[in-house]
Formats: sequence, C-alpha cells, structure tokens
Amino acid sequence: MISEQLETIKEQLLAEINGAERVNQIGQIRAKAFGKSGSISALSKGMRDLSPEERPKFGAMINELKKVIEESLSLKEGELEEIELKNKLESEQVDITEPSNIREIGALHPIADVIDRLTDICVDMGFSVVEGPEIESDYYNFEAMNIPKNHPSRDMQDTFFITDEILLRSHTSAVQAREMETRKPPFKIICPGKTYRNDSDATHSPIFHQIEGLVIDENISMADLKSMLTILMRRLYGNDTKIRFRPSFFPFTEPSIEVDVSCPSCHGKGCKICKGSGMLELLGAGIVNPKVLEMSGIDSKKYRGFAFGFGLDRTAMILNSINNIRNFYRNDIRFLEQMK
Ligand code: DAH
Repeated sequence: MISEQLETIKEQLLAEINGAERVNQIGQIRAKAFGKSGSISALSKGMRDLSPEERPKFGAMINELKKVIEESLSLKEGELEEIELKNKLESEQVDITEPSNIREIGALHPIADVIDRLTDICVDMGFSVVEGPEIESDYYNFEAMNIPKNHPSRDMQDTFFITDEILLRSHTSAVQAREMETRKPPFKIICPGKTYRNDSDATHSPIFHQIEGLVIDENISMADLKSMLTILMRRLYGNDTKIRFRPSFFPFTEPSIEVDVSCPSCHGKGCKICKGSGMLELLGAGIVNPKVLEMSGIDSKKYRGFAFGFGLDRTAMILNSINNIRNFYRNDIRFLEQMK
C-alpha cells in the first residue's frame, strides 16, 4: 500500500533528522528526500500508476509529508546551527589569564638620552642644532680657537693626529669657527657630538661626547651667560640645583669661567658621587675672546659672544649614577637594559 510506504519513508526521514549531529547532515538528508532521485520525489513519480480518483488524496498526503519533513529539517537545522556556534565561540575563546610572549622593549642609550634632553632644552631657548666633522683640521680645532702651534695650552688636550694638519677633533669647540665663518650674527647654536682624546680610565674614554654652545649678538654680557647656564642646569638637574661660577682659563674665552652644580644625588651634603664635596665640576664657558671673533671674520667692535662646552658622558654618568665611563661603550645588554 502506498500510504504504508509513505509512512515508512516519513518515519525513516524523521529518525534520520532526529539523529543528525551536524548542520551539513541536514543538507544531505534534504537531498535524500527532495533530490531528483530522493525518496519523496520517487513517491510523487509513483502517482502516475494511480487511478485518477486516488490521485488527489494521495497528492495531498505527499504534500503533507513534504511539509512535515521540511519543517523538522528547518527546526533541526536551527538547533544544530545554534549548538555549532556555541561550540565555536567556546573553543575560540581567548584565555586572558594565559601568559603572553613578552616583547623586549628597547631604550635609548644614556648618551643619546642626554643629547635629546639637552637639545630639547636649548631648542626651547632658541638655539639651532648644528654638526661638524669629527675628522677635523688643526686650524679649526686649535688655530682658530686661539691655540697656536707649540702653545702650552695644546697640552690640555692629548690629541690624536692623523697627519700634521688633520686630527680627530679633541673638542666640539672646533665647530665655533666653522659656524662663525658661515653665519651672520646674531645667532645661537649648539653642537652635540663625538670627541677624541688619548685618555683612558674609569672617567675618561678615548671616544667621548661633548656639547658646545655659542651665542653671538651685539650686547652679550657675562650676565646672559650666567642666566642661560642657570636655566639649563636647573632644567637638567632639577629646580633646587645650586650653581657656582669660578674664574678659569681657556684660550678661546676672556674672561673664562668654570661652572659647578650642587650634587643632584645628595643635594650638596656630600656623597660618593661628588666625593664628599657636595658640588660637581661640570663645564667650561666664557665670553668669546675677540681674537677668535676676528679670526673668523666677525667684527669684534660690534659683536660679542659667549660660549660653553661640556662633557656629555660625565652628565649621563651623574644623571644615571654610573661610575665607570666604559659601560657606555661596551654594548653590554645587561647594562643597557637597566636604562629602560
Ligand atoms: N673646549 C673645552 C674643553 O673641551 C670646553 C669649553 C670651555 C668650551 C670653554 C667652550 C668654552 O666653548 O667657552 O675642555
């Protein structure tokens, strides 16, 4: 009997639908029922063999079957989709407690850091930043700075000569004459960079760094120099820093001074860093010697200038409490890691 056949097909399909565990199985069952050679399609084809009176009744039964199967397919499909989505979300959940792969974070080298800090402060005060060659002529390093050949003050700096006339610059002051020759006053420049001297111990390295400052204008006085350096030192070492100016000698400045600041580590009380004195000798400065101005083509009757220069390695050592300058040049990652 056809109606029995129909009932069997219905039960089979419903059982399969019930037993489906994945969404793609629903598609397969749908094809098995409604596809070209599917079981329900076969039933429809069987209608041809029926008498005209039986056909409508049987047709209605097939339609009913189609409806029931389609409904349970959709229902099951919806259920399975929901389960699969839930499983997917669960399996893809991020475990926020899992330890991450920690990336190494680099840090600026302490010297580069000091250069950045000083240039920021000086640029705020209107200075331009310049560079000069590290391989320099005797003229710019010495002669133009009022240090003639055989002058005893050449002994202050144990210089690496390449030839009689070419050397590794022993101070950044060498840029002074270069800038004075090419710039029209008034101007304010700083030059941070590498310098070289034949010297090596815990506080001296054959390669080291300095920053040079030069201001040329009409009415420059010692007061301008002192106030500028006070601002610079306070911004670098802190507002409570005390500053002391002492008379000194440099061939390129007249008068010349040396500048000390209260030790930022003990605030003047005396400690290991300042060797108990409470003060640190920091830099040389002065009013540019008129001879230096004239040699570089600047009218010393109209213009005056002040200049200053100091070691950046020493500055970085003080700021970071480092006691051996060689640490800066060893590239030991354990040392550099502490600079983060
Ligand atoms: N060039 C000097 C040195 O290396 C430092 C210095 C002193 C620079 C006085 C200056 C200055 O510009 O005016 O020891």
